[in-house]
Amino acid sequence: MSEPTIEVYEVEDRTFPPSEAFQATALSSDRSLYDEANADYEAFWARQARELITWDKPFTKVLEWDLPYAKWFSDGQLNMSYNCLDRHVEAGRGDKIAYYFEGEPGDTKTFTYAELLDEVKKFANGLLGLGLEKGDRVAIYMPMIIELPIAMLACSRIGVVHSVIYGGFSPEAIRGRCEDADCKAVITADAGYRRGVPSGLKPLVDEALADGAPTVNNVIVYDRCNTDIDMVEGRDIWWHDLVADASLDCPAEPMDAEQLLFLLYTSGTTAKPKGIMHTTGGYLTQACFTHKYVFDIDPENDVYWCGADIGWITGHSYIVYGPLTNGVTSLMYEGTPDTPRMEERVGNDRANWHKGRLWDIVERYGVTQFYTAPTAIRTFMKWGDEEVEGYDLSSIRVLGTVGEPINPEAWMWYHENIGKEARPIVDTWFQTETGGHVLTPLPGVATTKPGSAVGGIPGTFPELVDDAGNVITKGGGYLTLARPWPSMLRGIWRNPELYMSTYWEQYPGRYFCGDGAKLDDDGYLWLLGRVDDVMNVSGHRISTTEVESALVEHPAVAEAAVVGAADDLKGQAIVGYTILVADVEPGDDIRSELSDFVATKLGPIARPRDVYLVDDLPKTRSGKIMRRLLRDIAAGNALGDTSTLADSDVVEAIRVGSAEADEE
Ligand code: PRX
Repeated sequence: MSEPTIEVYEVEDRTFPPSEAFQATALSSDRSLYDEANADYEAFWARQARELITWDKPFTKVLEWDLPYAKWFSDGQLNMSYNCLDRHVEAGRGDKIAYYFEGEPGDTKTFTYAELLDEVKKFANGLLGLGLEKGDRVAIYMPMIIELPIAMLACSRIGVVHSVIYGGFSPEAIRGRCEDADCKAVITADAGYRRGVPSGLKPLVDEALADGAPTVNNVIVYDRCNTDIDMVEGRDIWWHDLVADASLDCPAEPMDAEQLLFLLYTSGTTAKPKGIMHTTGGYLTQACFTHKYVFDIDPENDVYWCGADIGWITGHSYIVYGPLTNGVTSLMYEGTPDTPRMEERVGNDRANWHKGRLWDIVERYGVTQFYTAPTAIRTFMKWGDEEVEGYDLSSIRVLGTVGEPINPEAWMWYHENIGKEARPIVDTWFQTETGGHVLTPLPGVATTKPGSAVGGIPGTFPELVDDAGNVITKGGGYLTLARPWPSMLRGIWRNPELYMSTYWEQYPGRYFCGDGAKLDDDGYLWLLGRVDDVMNVSGHRISTTEVESALVEHPAVAEAAVVGAADDLKGQAIVGYTILVADVEPGDDIRSELSDFVATKLGPIARPRDVYLVDDLPKTRSGKIMRRLLRDIAAGNALGDTSTLADSDVVEAIRVGSAEADEE
């Protein structure tokens, strides 16, 4: 593990108290939540669970904590899709819009809560008709269209466990996830619109299933782009055929609070992504609570927009389960922040693209909460203030950021250009593992500092510790959670040892997040980035080992080491150092071939920014690659202590070699 001293931003220490204007209209800002939770956090979460969630069978037990396994509300029963849909319809809010959909080509759709419920019932009956049963696992590999939440809700209605796979992942990633969980079906679309053209999904599923994942009996295909695809007889079925005659009678079956709701795979320090397990009652309680309070949700008037992808935890909790449970209207957008202007598209010249696409959407729908990632904010900054000017953003009440540390400059840009210096910004820290927000200011309550995530939400106990596990109240340390929380992971699918060793062994009694953080003199918490071998590229988590394994699979590569390097736009970029086998000609051709190879194997987000060809890698005398040194080289930093190296000349050779490659 490396030292938690990544970068401490030197900025003017400004604070932003909640504006009076916001406080005057805020619905859920309430300082007393902190006092209540500090006095008795179990009672606090039990109250939230009772007030926010509808239970078929009320719980009497709150928390059973047998470290590292927690059960929350375990004798209670509830149905996830009932909480998201039926109860709003029963309360007479069936005509309320659940989702506005904006497709990348400009097509639009709306779904009311009643309409969404009907679609979910029909699709759930379709799944039952295929023989799927409670506890079975199903993979979902779809574009950002409403049918994706419909598929998830249908699964949750009948107790089928979903495993959503990000649409940018490769066939190998699909196969690996289907095999790990023995998925019985894959739900996909022919393609989704990406940068002006249909980008195929079903062909990648076919490739994934061609030589593996034998448990997959069916592939359900939604026709999004009307592309020409192959349908495998007896295995593949169109979504529209599956629901054509499906009944609308599909009762929401009560599930145990600890019923497995979904698996979501995430990269760790091992080569293979791990299946993070989330269950129903505790997860929903925290997703619903945080969504309501962190975004100050007004279910009657808000149009809430989270721009994440549902392939990540942010989309699960803050596009699907949180917003629907709160009965708010959300917006879902299929495309990227800049898109070709379809009407005047000139080739693929990005200069002509519509860089105000998101602001145009905010204006047209009157978006009230806007939630995005720092990489996107830095991209907007690069495009220039003029791309925002002229759009009416006055409907926005709360701004959010998530996924990576936000630099204060980007925070200030967001505050000034999008927030017009009047809207609170919530910097929300959480993880696939935490399920819901853990660190973030509550708008209307907290005074914020640009770049700081401020501190824990009520009912969570983040603490920094030093190497020896002693609690630190000032300065840098490792971020841990000292007590269980309702939406915490319940384990790693079929790998209890890895669960134990990844999260619970470093600091006994504490959950270790893998992040470094610091507490400043005023007690504000700042995230400093990962301290393990995980990179964070545009808010996407990628393991160095995973990219290394991909590189060494290429026949030209003898050995590889991968590190994250600071990147102005993406936060971190992937840099690979490779030793080629003897008979391969070094040069730019092989460098770009290796980058392409990784992108094909793992998906485009894992494409290395640079691949350097080296003669040797810096290793300790025991043969361990010293990533710290490679990180320093990649960052152009002065090199620290190299005395433990087996051969200290290696580092100098790499440094000179990579500088020369950059110049070419
Ligand atoms: O390093 C932290 C970073 O993203 C990691 C979690 O990644 P993932 O499970 O993919 O979930 C991403 C979306 C929540 C964390 O360990 N991270 C997440 N949010 C923040 C952050 N780093 C700094 N500030 C944040 N707000």
